[in-house]
Amino acid sequence: MGRADKFKDALGQHMTPEPVANLIADELRGSITSAVDLAVGDGALLLAIAHRWPRASLHGVDCDELRVSHARAANSRLRLRHGDGLTARFPALRQEECQRVAIVGNPPFLSANATDESRAWLDAAFAGVQSRHGVRRLEMAFLARALIEARKRQGLVAMLMPSPFASGVLYGPYRRALLAQYGVDKVISVEGTRFRNTEASTVLLIIDTALSSTTNIEISRYCPVEGKTVVHRGSVGGDVRLDARYWSAAQLRLTGAPTLGECGVDVTRGRYCKADARRMNRAVLHTTDLCRLSGPSIELHPLSADSFDDMDVLAEAGDILLSRTGTRVRWQPVEVKRGVAPITDHVLRIRAPEPVRRQVIESFMHPAFPAWLASVTKGVCASVVTKRELLTMPLFAASNSA
Ligand SMILES: C[S@@+](CC[C@H](N)C(=O)[O-])C[C@H]1O[C@@H](n2cnc3c(N)ncnc32)[C@H](O)[C@@H]1O
Repeated sequence: MGRADKFKDALGQHMTPEPVANLIADELRGSITSAVDLAVGDGALLLAIAHRWPRASLHGVDCDELRVSHARAANSRLRLRHGDGLTARFPALRQEECQRVAIVGNPPFLSANATDESRAWLDAAFAGVQSRHGVRRLEMAFLARALIEARKRQGLVAMLMPSPFASGVLYGPYRRALLAQYGVDKVISVEGTRFRNTEASTVLLIIDTALSSTTNIEISRYCPVEGKTVVHRGSVGGDVRLDARYWSAAQLRLTGAPTLGECGVDVTRGRYCKADARRMNRAVLHTTDLCRLSGPSIELHPLSADSFDDMDVLAEAGDILLSRTGTRVRWQPVEVKRGVAPITDHVLRIRAPEPVRRQVIESFMHPAFPAWLASVTKGVCASVVTKRELLTMPLFAASNSA
């Protein structure tokens, strides 16, 4: 093994494969005059930019001297420094009349202790965000610095981020701030390719910091074999996901039918897991019980609701049950015919007002439901559907009868 191959996972050295580096270079609009990568590694991103813009000045910083020397050997055009990308002085860029600066990166995806620097970058870049999630993630501090440095120069940011940045709840406040305060040009879900030695999946953000808000965004997926497929172009609400999986089912959300939330449906999940139920000696209803059924309904113990306490979320006659998560679950609704039983935290209890109850059940059996579910579920190994998302599901069966 050569010296250059001694990668350090503890520094997040999961290098960008060449097709993705080329994608980044291709997606930058305008003629780039300077590019900066504050976690440059072996220089993959700058090398792709060097190829596309032979006259651009290219600057990089990395905290690992070995990576810096490897990148230096790859192309003598790269101006590189050893240092911490969050504290190092920003490279002095060539001043040109039509300057177009791009700050590019595939930063280390690592959890980290909050430092004064990371707090300062995040506070400056995401004004008004109260969440503390970002200060514990190194990639968020790199994104924040890139936004600040690019805005000083009215430049572009092209940053690979973990895919939950586009879809996860914890990143929601940062997404909202990004859309409200910068021009998010493109969000590209990167699929079908592996970064060195990691299963992490990524999303590429292309941001124009000269714009003070997002009006028109392109959402797409990219894989090296098929290239880029655009799934949405236009505006997005302030509270939404930005991943291709979600947007590829956008037409299913535009049926004109009311959502479950608008129909007054209540969705509640159980409060304890199956193991806790066993410890408490409770006979509970779990996803495995729903899977075992062959029909669309279930009959429970003929107990009274008074036999339980307020820790229990009870399924009772008329309720609709749906698995919330699982690897091989049955995503079909189960109607409680009679009796009562507490549910585990893997089961959702859906209570619909009587006038729409039948339509709610039929909506879960509607041909549109599996595609809608696939667009909202998260998770690599197990699928998860949240209460919040379920309340945004259109009452598909209403569009049948309309
Ligand atoms: C995911 S790699 C990406 C490298 C390269 N930009 C690419 O796309 O292939 C992240 C790089 O960040 C570097 N790194 C980690 N912490 C850093 C820090 N605080 N300052 C600068 N570089 C850092 C690692 O050494 C590693 O080379």
